[in-house]
Amino acid sequence: MRRKLAAGNWKMFGTEAAIAEVEALAAMFPEPACDILICPPATLISRMSLRMGGGAVAIGGQDCHPAPEGAHTGDISAAMLADAGATHVILGHSERRADHGETDALVADKARAALSAGLVPVICVGETLAEREAGSTLSVVTAQLQGSVPDGLDIGALIIAYEPVWAIGTGKVPGLAEIAEVHDFMRENLTTRFGPGADDTRLLYGGSVKPGNASDIFSVSNVDGALVGGASLAAADFGAIIAALAAS
Ligand code: PGA
Repeated sequence: MRRKLAAGNWKMFGTEAAIAEVEALAAMFPEPACDILICPPATLISRMSLRMGGGAVAIGGQDCHPAPEGAHTGDISAAMLADAGATHVILGHSERRADHGETDALVADKARAALSAGLVPVICVGETLAEREAGSTLSVVTAQLQGSVPDGLDIGALIIAYEPVWAIGTGKVPGLAEIAEVHDFMRENLTTRFGPGADDTRLLYGGSVKPGNASDIFSVSNVDGALVGGASLAAADFGAIIAALAAS
């Protein structure tokens, strides 16, 4: 049985005052029926993880450098994230692929670095609107999985987030059948490549998940949770999504 995961991606939002939202969230779910992860900006990781004290809310980074250390101004290594209290790291988010030109090969290098530092990578894939309209969603996802997920890892320990680029921050969500098609396909693809261990890989859906659509999305086969942006910033909204996941 895969344990469900509600992951929050805070992107470039949040300063000290926002930690109160995570404290409120932790108070709402002292013994949650699913895993909860918040990935705040790097500046908050250490403070947040100290305040969470290893409780039910895990803390993660939003990116890491592929090298263990070095002359890379502005970058953060996986070991540094772990040292700050992170247990997970989001890799290959479409905003990083678009804003920073991240390639599948770079994402795979980052995933190797994360695993060697003891972090769980959350690798993001997903098509653009033009790719969906051209009917190439599954081939785009295939290429991204092939290129971004390194060979020879413990696939069951990995988390994959399917995030259609056109659904991120737009309020647009694919139909449930469309989500099911991609999630079933990803499970099959990973099983063919890695064997039955891929049955333990958690597959998250991301892109405009809100309290109002969460239950429907969580009813879809092979959806093991969500990667949530905007709606993860406020405890009330993310709490409602977590409650929907726990009840699914
Ligand atoms: P959104 O973002 O929930 O605000 O659409 C999701 C994401 O980018 O991970």
